[in-house]
Amino acid sequence: MALQKKIACIGAGYVGGPTMSVIAKQCPDSIITVVDINQERIDAWNSDTLPVYEPGLDEIVKAVRGKNLFFSTEVEKAIVENDIIFIAVNTPTKDYGVGKNMAADLQHWEVIARQIRKVAKSDKIIIEKSTLPVKTAEAMETILNTGSTIHFEVLSNPEFLAEGSAIRDLLEPDRVLIGSRETTSGQRARDEVVKIYNAWVPKDRIITTNTFSSELSKLVSNTFLAQRVSSINAISAVCEATGADVQEVAKAVGADSRIGNKFLNASVGFGGSCFRKDILNLVYICRMHHLHEIATYFENVINMNNYQQQRFVDNVIRSMFNTVAGRKICMFGCAFKANTDDIRDTPALLVARTLMSEKANLVISDPKAMENMKAELGNPKHVLFVEDPYEAANDCHAILILTEWELYAKLDYQKLFNSMIKPAYLFDGRNIINPKACYEIGFNVYSIGKEALIHR
Ligand code: UDX
Repeated sequence: MALQKKIACIGAGYVGGPTMSVIAKQCPDSIITVVDINQERIDAWNSDTLPVYEPGLDEIVKAVRGKNLFFSTEVEKAIVENDIIFIAVNTPTKDYGVGKNMAADLQHWEVIARQIRKVAKSDKIIIEKSTLPVKTAEAMETILNTGSTIHFEVLSNPEFLAEGSAIRDLLEPDRVLIGSRETTSGQRARDEVVKIYNAWVPKDRIITTNTFSSELSKLVSNTFLAQRVSSINAISAVCEATGADVQEVAKAVGADSRIGNKFLNASVGFGGSCFRKDILNLVYICRMHHLHEIATYFENVINMNNYQQQRFVDNVIRSMFNTVAGRKICMFGCAFKANTDDIRDTPALLVARTLMSEKANLVISDPKAMENMKAELGNPKHVLFVEDPYEAANDCHAILILTEWELYAKLDYQKLFNSMIKPAYLFDGRNIINPKACYEIGFNVYSIGKEALIHR
């Protein structure tokens, strides 16, 4: 039987837009309205240039927009007209007051909860999609239901989208997680949400839990993923010291099916909008419950990431005889990972800022993220932004690979070497080049977790 539901989503950002587009596509008899107070963003969703770049998203939006998917700024109307409401607003880390730099800032969430309460005329199912601290649903339910004649059921349905693969993650999720209260109304609401996803996701991939487990699972998933990266990065330092090769170690270790081979690429460090934020959130929750040992344990995932980023840039400076002042250094990539223009928390920022403070002349190159990087660094003196990698590396003393763009793996390193000042240095923060081949060309090659290849 076709699923005929009226669904609204508040928040037309990176999570709300793609998620609702996929729901609209997979539930063609349902009507989905995505609302946001940001007129510019809504206009973009209604235009040919969507505000979010994700492979596959344009095609889906084109197919369903105006049919059963609508983007609008009429938030109150959407609240009144829909009884299933997803909330996908951003939850930055607090930069003030209690929990500063650690706890999630729930301002947006609270404003929306109060707005829903003010205008709603019938019972609603409210679904938290943004990553939130454990017990947020409970707090919101209290705000919504206290003294109200209307019943609000708040559910947790965390997103597990990785940038660059969001549409695939939505169409073929490893799992969909839905947390609800164990009450009759909680279970009824949960069944409604299960039905939406079950239009295309098999039942055995839809996990239902209590609300707290669902909220916590999101933080734990990202913490464990980040922990794997920090673990292999820690081992990369041991490899460099002992002559082992981190890629060989990762392959051998990952072949154990209990461990698995994903997320074992040693790198200059992890970045992105989620990992640090979610770990800090978990750490904060632990501290709130006086679980200080646990907090410290997970905090070390971040400490290791900071160490790895610093270790990379310190190694650049040390290898160039502690003097990079006035020397031209080229950075290949500044996005926090390939296939995105996102530079939030990217390791390239620490690397660039450290080298700038050492008075190096930087040339930054990236196929998509340069404008964001320029804005973040404030377009400083001594920093050039050059998209063509050959032009960027011309007359440089060193190339630093910071993002694993395929483009950088395929460059003609002989040509690059010929145009550089000698001795020419190559620091591969993503292990995407062939170190031996580049060494034979003439580079001094420094890869993560491998013995450096230096011409003496
Ligand atoms: C992550 C989670 O994967 C996703 O489920 C969640 O919803 C949001 O956070 P994202 O931040 O888009 O997604 O990126 P992800 O692909 O997970 O990579 C995070 C960082 O780890 C990147 O900087 C990446 O380069 C780095 N990384 C990843 C490594 O250094 N090595 C690896 O083996 C894997």
